[in-house]
Amino acid sequence: MNNNFPKKIVLASHNKGKVAEFQDMFAGMDVKIIGADAVGLPEPEETEDTFEGNALLKARHACEITAMPCLADDSGLAVNALDGAPGIYSARWAGPNKDFAMAMKKVSDDIGDNSDKGAQFVAVLALVMPDGTEYVARGEVDGDITYPPRGAHGFGYDPIFVPSGESQTFAELGKGGKEKHSHRKRAFLALKQLLAK
Ligand code: IMP
Repeated sequence: MNNNFPKKIVLASHNKGKVAEFQDMFAGMDVKIIGADAVGLPEPEETEDTFEGNALLKARHACEITAMPCLADDSGLAVNALDGAPGIYSARWAGPNKDFAMAMKKVSDDIGDNSDKGAQFVAVLALVMPDGTEYVARGEVDGDITYPPRGAHGFGYDPIFVPSGESQTFAELGKGGKEKHSHRKRAFLALKQLLAK
């Protein structure tokens, strides 16, 4: 399929769930995706306070090291009743052991008996080129938090997020079902449009 993406892109992420979703999105496009692990990319500290800032930080850092086009994703779950938390701290809520059972329980405990269960998944993609050109695109999906967790697919907070219009969680919907609503896919399509301009 014709597209305006560079022919080779380093994906600046060590998150297996994200990497798998990007591989599906790029499938059939003439783009070679090189994993962060393959080029031994270290993970920079996420010091910015927005998804945009952290996505750019990760993509710039990867581009400085590899001198290749680099794509980074900064994403997370923003819960209405928690004023947008965990937000950019979504990965950090799971701690060093990436314990998402604990992080999902914390989301549910913190919401408590608040009747507003609304939340959004947000993904911001940053593509940074060796010549300094930068593209940033955002995707979001609305839904509700449910607890206890349900479903075995996906990663992170997928088992407690029910996208609007569905009764199953992302983790129950699985690959195809999630992709229809996915914040990451929406950001990817927005990025594709930016590149087409
Ligand atoms: P970061 O972008 O590396 O800071 O990590 C984002 C974190 O947000 C992930 O580790 C997940 O915990 C969560 N997250 C982002 N996107 C998704 C998703 O599609 N499903 C479930 N959890 C997600």
